[in-house]
Formats: sequence, structure tokens, C-alpha cells
Amino acid sequence: MKNKDFTRRRFITTVSVGSAAAVVSGAIPTFGKITTLNNETGKLAILGGIPVVKEKVWPAWPYVDEKMVEAIARTTRSGIWCRIQSSTGTVPTFELEYAKLMGTKFALGTGSGTQALSTCVEALGIGPGDEVITSPYTDMGTISSIITSRALPVMADLDPESFQLDPREVERRITENTKAIMPVHIMGQPCNMERIMAIAKKHNLKVIEDTCQAHLGVYQGKVLGTIGDLGCFSFQTSKTISCGEGGGIIGNNEELMDKCYTVQNHGTSRKGRSETIGPKYRMNEFEGAILLAQLGGAKDRFALRNKNAAYLTSKLKNFPGLVPQKLYEGTESGSFYLYTMSYHKEHFNNAPRDKFLKALSAEGIVMSGYIANGLHKEPWVDHILNLKVYQKMYSPARLKQYLEELACPKCDQVCADMVMLWASGPLLGTQADMDDIISAIMKVYDNRDKLNSI
Ligand SMILES: Cc1ncc(COP(=O)(O)O)c(C=O)c1O
Repeated sequence: MKNKDFTRRRFITTVSVGSAAAVVSGAIPTFGKITTLNNETGKLAILGGIPVVKEKVWPAWPYVDEKMVEAIARTTRSGIWCRIQSSTGTVPTFELEYAKLMGTKFALGTGSGTQALSTCVEALGIGPGDEVITSPYTDMGTISSIITSRALPVMADLDPESFQLDPREVERRITENTKAIMPVHIMGQPCNMERIMAIAKKHNLKVIEDTCQAHLGVYQGKVLGTIGDLGCFSFQTSKTISCGEGGGIIGNNEELMDKCYTVQNHGTSRKGRSETIGPKYRMNEFEGAILLAQLGGAKDRFALRNKNAAYLTSKLKNFPGLVPQKLYEGTESGSFYLYTMSYHKEHFNNAPRDKFLKALSAEGIVMSGYIANGLHKEPWVDHILNLKVYQKMYSPARLKQYLEELACPKCDQVCADMVMLWASGPLLGTQADMDDIISAIMKVYDNRDKLNSI
């Protein structure tokens, strides 16, 4: 018996025949709570059985405490609502504290993650005629930051196990117009930055890290967002540090960070000179207040998400039906904005993902797919290719090649197979909560022969 957590006798009395066979064959070495045989608890809830979890209440998200409420009240009363009213207001103070937390020299608040990325594209002088290589498996904010400067977002396909940009695909798509790579640390876990940075160095490209989901993740001893030239964060409500809508940029290059300030301040520098092209993307003092007030507990919540994620992954080890997101060597911690797995229907009696999710949800554990379509399949592609500026700046041959190389079959596969657990609430739960998640998965697995009939 390979399983160390259970004696064979206890194991056989608590695990259904299907799972037992799989475990004995080495397919599932460890479990959390186990479903029982042939009673109402073992019967799928969707077929009238008793759910594994009744009325599960996860820790609420966004995180709220009295300190945050008081901070908003203080800002309201102060009349300092805009960052340029005071050099010691909540936004400048948040910038100092965020830089400290991230271990960078500088941080800059913006109104959203999209604005942070856009600011960096503009500050690096990337515009019409230039190309930026990025992932199709991301939020539209990533692409938007490139097309608002009228540059060409070039999609590179994914590593289907990590759901991250495949560095080989990135290198394949470099042209003489490529100016930057925008790796997206999807789900908050690190890309293969060692390879991406090596490619950038070899081809003299800038790297803007889309760290919008990846607050506090660490790769090879470096905090995500500090590996490339600039790192961009989102503080939108769902993110692991949040203020409704907000964003930030971190970096160590003073001149470049000053440029970022100027760009997001409608082109006006800290010295008050109107110098360049720039929208108004400033973070406001209410956003600064709520962010500052929650920074204190951010590291503890981050550690808890990592602990619970590691526990779930240990329980799913060698279970072929759900395979957690692959983490690259050098990953010391992830943000775990989402906890994601690929669903392998061949181990669930070929039941489609939706049937698995429906059965799981009836057991009281809600999971879902994530991005339905890679962004290479969305209408913005046709839109920009029909714009005069793109037709003027990129040759017909380049635009033809662009369309021909747009296919990202690995990304399509990831979109179809992905199963995600919303992490900010559930991963802030207890170990018993994690056991409930595993029990529900295993109960559905035990009953996989019934999935196609639901
Ligand atoms: C990977 C990624 N990039 C960019 C963004 C854009 O950030 P925001 O919504 O704050 O503009 C998001 C937000 O969801 C994101 O997840």
C-alpha cells in the first residue's frame, strides 16, 4: 500500500471502489476527506444525494476591515482627494510603502492595471510601426495597452501545462519591428522569466511584466515585476490587493519611472512642464487610502493562499483527472489570484467539463472555466487591421503574415480544459475547507460513470 495517510483497512472502508482501484494502482496517492460507499453521502448531490458541503461560506472578498473604513472617512474629511493636492497624501505615501513591500526603488499609482501598462508602453517610446509580443490568454487590458499606442500586439502561443507564454513561441515571432515582450504572469504565478529575459537580452528588447494578477509572487529570489524593465499591477476589486479600480508601476530606473509619472500625468512632469503625449491616468486619494490601509495584512493573506494552494496540489498529486497549473523551476511563491487545473475528461468517463463542473457545484464547491476564448479570436483583430493607421504603418505583407500566424492552438486547448477555483475567497479558508474541496472532487470522480447522464 503506497498511501501513507491511510491504513489499507481504513482506506477500503472509506473510499469507493473506483477510487480505491485508482489509488492501489498508484494513480491517487493522497486524499482529504473521503466519500463513503453506497449511501446518501456517496450519491451525487445532483442526483439527489447529500452534498459534501452545505451552504459553504468562504471568507469574503474584497477584504474589508475597520482600518480601511476609517481611512476612507479620514480622506473624505481631509478634502485632499486628488494626488497633486499634497506630496504627503495617501497616493504618494502608498507609492513609498508599495515600493518598500516590493523591494524596488520606485512605485507609481495609476487608475487601473490597463493604465499602468499603457503608461509603460508610451514611456518606453513604443508606438505605430512597433510590435510587442504578448499572450493571448489574458485580460483585454494587456492588449489594450498596446493598441492604444497604435503598436501591434503579436500573440505567442502558450505552454499548455503552465498556461504561460511559451518562450520558444515568443522567439519565433520576433521581427525587425519588435520592441518589447509583455509576459503575463497568469493566475499570479511566474512565467519562465529566465528564458524570456535571455531572449530579450539576445534581441535587445524591453520587458514590461504584466504582473496585474501577481502581487508578491517570487521567482528566483526576485519579486515579480522587478525582473523586467517595468512591472505593472492591477488593484481592481478581484485582485489580491485591491481598491475597486486602481493600478501601479514599479521599477528601479529613476529616469524611466519619471517618464512614467509624466505620461500618466497628461504629459506634465513633476516639475510642472508639459512635455509629452500622455493621458490622465492618476490614482486618486480614496484609492490610495484604501490600499494603504490594507497593505499591513497583505503578506499574511499571501502566505495563507500559498499554504492552501500547496496543500491542494499535494492532495492532487498524481491524480490524472485534474492537473494543477505547472509552476516553473525557480518559483518560490505565486500570488494565487486563481487556483487552476486542467480537466482531463478521459479520466472522468469522457464527461465534458461542464458536466463535471455542474456535479461539483451541486456538492457545494463552485469552480468554472476561465477565459472562454483566447484574445487572438476576438473582434479587435479585424478592427485594428482595418484602421488606416495600421494599414499605413505595417506593410500588407506583414499584416498578411500577422493574420496567418495568429492561430494559438495551445491557448485554445487551455481555454477548453481549464478549471478554476476562485482563490481570493476560498484560498483564505482553513485546511478543513481545502479537504472539502478535495472530497467534492473525489466524490464526483467516484461517480464518473454517472456524469454523462446528468
Ligand atoms: C493579466 C491582466 N492584465 C491586465 C489587467 C488589467 O487590469 P485592470 O482591470 O486593473 O485595468 C488585468 C485585470 O484583470 C489582468 O488580469
